Amino acid sequence: MTDHTVESTSTSPSANPILAEVEAAIGADLLAAEQILADELQSENPYIHDILSHVTRFKGKRLRPMLLLLTAQACGGVKKEHRTLAAVVEMIHLATLVHDDVLDDAETRRHVATVNARWNTETSVLFGDYLFTHSFHLTSSLGTAEACRLIGRATNRVCEGELSQIKERGNLDLSEETYFRIIEGKTAELCALCGHLGALHAGAGTDVIAAMDRYGRQLGLAFQIADDLLDLVGVEKKTGKTLGSDLDKQKLTLPIIRLLSTLPESEAAEVRQLLAHPDENTRERLTPYFNRSDAMKYTQQTALRLAGEARQALEILPNSGARRILAGIADFAVRRSF
Ligand code: IPE
Ligand code: IPE
Ligand code: MG
Ligand code: MG
Repeated sequence: MTDHTVESTSTSPSANPILAEVEAAIGADLLAAEQILADELQSENPYIHDILSHVTRFKGKRLRPMLLLLTAQACGGVKKEHRTLAAVVEMIHLATLVHDDVLDDAETRRHVATVNARWNTETSVLFGDYLFTHSFHLTSSLGTAEACRLIGRATNRVCEGELSQIKERGNLDLSEETYFRIIEGKTAELCALCGHLGALHAGAGTDVIAAMDRYGRQLGLAFQIADDLLDLVGVEKKTGKTLGSDLDKQKLTLPIIRLLSTLPESEAAEVRQLLAHPDENTRERLTPYFNRSDAMKYTQQTALRLAGEARQALEILPNSGARRILAGIADFAVRRSF
């Protein structure tokens, strides 16, 4: 048993009606998955114990465990292995966040200091690795090579996405196509894995597994686009994390790519100048350019279209409460403010 106290955040069910429905449908399974995660992440080493207590204090949205467990429920029912898999995907996600906060020089995550801000970069690198290795250690308890293979493949692609993003940092000519390849790797792959594993371990057929993989993938793309909008226009108190780092680190995201490709050449050149020398006022300085362009609307509509594609993928499933909630989560992914 753990003594890491877990507190909820703005993700508490009252914050959003769909989260209340999630809680009613799979709340007990989510709790069980959290317990599995806490049991796996135990250390008698006081240094590691401190870091574990710190990063598990706030839970985050738990989107990936939700996707996996709701998919399982919509495909026939949640089994014991789904709860373990839900803990695994959340652990992989947590590992990517710890590393990502180093890459982004972020100070706040889930309403508390990042590991790099509170400790140091070296600790973050090794602690992120520690979470990755724990996730594979936990997966091995399932005794199925197929789950290990799928989780390994998806995690490889997540890392490839983050690596491509690092390579493209500072590229002010980034294409939409490359942007989509990056976000498909770093974010959508893990969400696709949730749909895939949820369906596979519920005994679904190959066509349903493929549809749930697609549901997760399209939702993941939409979710990251919404996140990229929040990085530009969100409120740190609500998101609980450092914002503006995409600009700081010259990571071009869809709103900026669209802005650059649609503004008259002279104004696009001014925007490039702002992007080439980011400071704490860059977000604000971009506002008049956004006001003269369709970039924000275009980005929102793109996210909405992808969420619609995720919902469409659910049509293969029989009608059920879980299916309806999955559709609601696709909506939440793009309309959230945290
Ligand atoms: C943050 O993910 C990283 C992205 C893929 C945008 P979440 O927004 O799901 O983070 P938590 O788990 O709620 O903290
Ligand atoms: C990171 O994307 C996505 C990961 C897979 C870790 P971001 O850099 O946009 O995530 P946040 O905004 O820091 O949560
Ligand atoms: Mg980041
Ligand atoms: Mg972000």
